[in-house]
Amino acid sequence: MKIFDFKNKINEQELVVAADEIRNGNLVIFPTETVYGIGANALDEKAVKKIFIAKGRQSDNPLIVHISNLDMVEKLATDISDMERKLIDAFFPGPFTIVLKKKDIIPTSVTANLDTVGIRMPENNIALKLIEAAGVAIAAPSANISGRPSGTRIDDIKDEFDGIIDIMIDGGDTLIGLESTVVKVINNIPVILRPGKITPEDIIEIVGVVKFDEHIYKKSEGKVESPGMKYRHYAPTTECLLIYSDEDATQIDLVNANIKENTIVIGYEEHKNMIKTNNFYSFGSIKNYDEISHNIFNLLRKSDKRHADLIIIEGVKKQGLGIAIMNRLIRAANYNYIEK
Ligand code: TXA
Ligand code: MG
Repeated sequence: MKIFDFKNKINEQELVVAADEIRNGNLVIFPTETVYGIGANALDEKAVKKIFIAKGRQSDNPLIVHISNLDMVEKLATDISDMERKLIDAFFPGPFTIVLKKKDIIPTSVTANLDTVGIRMPENNIALKLIEAAGVAIAAPSANISGRPSGTRIDDIKDEFDGIIDIMIDGGDTLIGLESTVVKVINNIPVILRPGKITPEDIIEIVGVVKFDEHIYKKSEGKVESPGMKYRHYAPTTECLLIYSDEDATQIDLVNANIKENTIVIGYEEHKNMIKTNNFYSFGSIKNYDEISHNIFNLLRKSDKRHADLIIIEGVKKQGLGIAIMNRLIRAANYNYIEK
């Protein structure tokens, strides 16, 4: 395994080596502004299959195809509506994936046999440069073994993929820490299949309307719009319990009442001294959901390594970025959730 350190500066020679690795049909782990991705040439069926094997990913869960300029959209997708174009213009590059009607050049393994493809233009400079240097679109899921928390820093994931993936690019901690907002326009209404940093309010500002897929906070099974939401996700192996109340004091009481002997609590900095455990990890301030989204996957991984009997996670308000945070935490806790 080689780790290329691009934290302070992109090394141009190593960038060429990584781009060649993609062109040769192999996998590269690379940073984006959301989470790390495991990339392969999106037009190479065999390369894409390696992603599914490396992650242990179900073949009915489609991959997002990453591009480095707007012209690439036309090569990959067709029948793009005015509304879809408005969303692309507003949110590319950025933490936003749009599901469009696919062209035939995209192998069906990328899209899990769907006739649509999720396309995203990341904002992270390393990701953009890698796609550009490879000269091909890059299919990339989050860098984690399927079911586990997504990787937001190389140290968290390098052991998971050592011996499986030869080249990893270290771009430091990812800025946002939660995966992109996934949107599909259905009957001329943008439907959020997976919430993220681009919020419903952001979408309304551009096109005046937005809906949520019904499975944002629920278990989904069978044939659904967002196959990725079906599977156990973002989850530590330790049992987790998510607790939320609109009343701060109630939330603290509930957390304290559920603490057992060997319990870790992940929660607000402001609650640190009120929660009765020596094993408290602060995920950020109650006033700063950006900070919480940035830290949450790393803290889930860190807590999991402590082999506790229980991880209690404080919930956040389901508003703005809080919608995405709760979407992930509810799944991390495997729906073990108290709300009062
Ligand atoms: O921020 C991100 O989106 C990261 C970085 C690496 O770009 N990628 C990521 O990929 O989160 P992944 O594979 O972990 O999640 C892809 C999500 C899944 O929920 C999947 O169901 C959905 O996107 N998706 C992809 N293509 C789709 C399609 N054609 N129709 C509906 N949902 C789709
Ligand atoms: Mg994922």
